[in-house]
Amino acid sequence: MAKVLSDRTKAARLPLLPRHWGVADIPDQTGKTAVVTGANSGLGLRTAEALAAKGAHVLMACRNELKAATALEQVSAAATGPKPEVLPLDLADLSSVRRAADHLDARDNAIDILVNNAGVMALPRNIRTAEGFDAQFGTNHLGHYALTGLLLPALLRATAPRVVTVSSVAAWGGFINWSDPNWRVLYVRWLAYSQSKLANLLFTAELDRRARAHGTNLTAVAAHPGLSATHLYDSAAERGLSGALAAVQQRALVAMAQSDRMGALPQLYAATMPNLPGNAYLGPGLETFGYPRRTLRNPLAFSRTQARALWRLSETLTDIRYPWPDWP
Ligand SMILES: NC(=O)c1ccc[n+]([C@@H]2O[C@H](COP(=O)([O-])OP(=O)(O)OC[C@H]3O[C@@H](n4cnc5c(N)ncnc54)[C@H](OP(=O)(O)O)[C@@H]3O)[C@@H](O)[C@H]2O)c1
Repeated sequence: MAKVLSDRTKAARLPLLPRHWGVADIPDQTGKTAVVTGANSGLGLRTAEALAAKGAHVLMACRNELKAATALEQVSAAATGPKPEVLPLDLADLSSVRRAADHLDARDNAIDILVNNAGVMALPRNIRTAEGFDAQFGTNHLGHYALTGLLLPALLRATAPRVVTVSSVAAWGGFINWSDPNWRVLYVRWLAYSQSKLANLLFTAELDRRARAHGTNLTAVAAHPGLSATHLYDSAAERGLSGALAAVQQRALVAMAQSDRMGALPQLYAATMPNLPGNAYLGPGLETFGYPRRTLRNPLAFSRTQARALWRLSETLTDIRYPWPDWP
């Protein structure tokens, strides 16, 4: 009887990666279609560029038309295969997520790679999505849960679909605030961010388990970029004296950070390297910087109970159910 490996064991068996894996090592992506959320900026933009340069047809899922148009020029200049396209998508509005998914589904094409990359971090006020969710939980987790579920038919048309969800070292400090996941009673911005990034890992684990249990070829993996100089730190900006202090802190962080090109490598590895075990987690070699390698995660991210509970909560909040019921 085949030995069933636990997710933890499978992730641990991921072979050590070559020390200096870079964009040049990405296998040819000709014939593949990749959707990258938040592709107009930072890691998403670098991911879109690299995939397009390797021949993939890249769909840049972005919420801001003007920023997307500028980024499209950059990605088009790098592309060696089909012309990249912009897909309007606001993850903080489930009707926009549905429109984007309907648009893709109507084309009847396969999606080989979905990179759930877009995110907001530590917003100073408790900002809400269109459905009233906390913006970080709503955008970083619920929006991607919904998008992945709605794109499932297109993903399952691919031979070996891969879903990469971008988490963070902040997931180490995360827990799911079960009694108040949308932070209505007490908003603590860094806890809200950490929760959303732990949710990215729990989502990956449960997505991978369900995909396998239902006999599909879909592989779900996660990645994090360490500390990378992007616009993410702008979203944490605030006004007044505390804002000025936060700005100094942010400048210091960005000064210590690696480039967005380096930061994008773990998610590129996760998106393109064959034979990755399900629920693998890639990050920079030295945790905040360096070349990609397998990495450790908050042990809570291995909790089957938490992953199932988060899945059920996500179903209830978004009213989007995958065609994969839970199994014993
Ligand atoms: N940079 C780091 O050090 C770091 C560390 C750990 C994890 N991460 C993770 O890396 C991912 C990418 O972030 P980044 O560093 O590249 O930051 P970034 O430069 O700010 O890019 C974030 C992207 O997400 C998009 N986005 C935000 N809210 C959205 C929404 N509601 N709908 C659609 N798109 C939305 C942004 O669009 P707009 O341009 O329109 O705002 C932007 O394209 C995030 O998930 C973040 O949590 C980054």
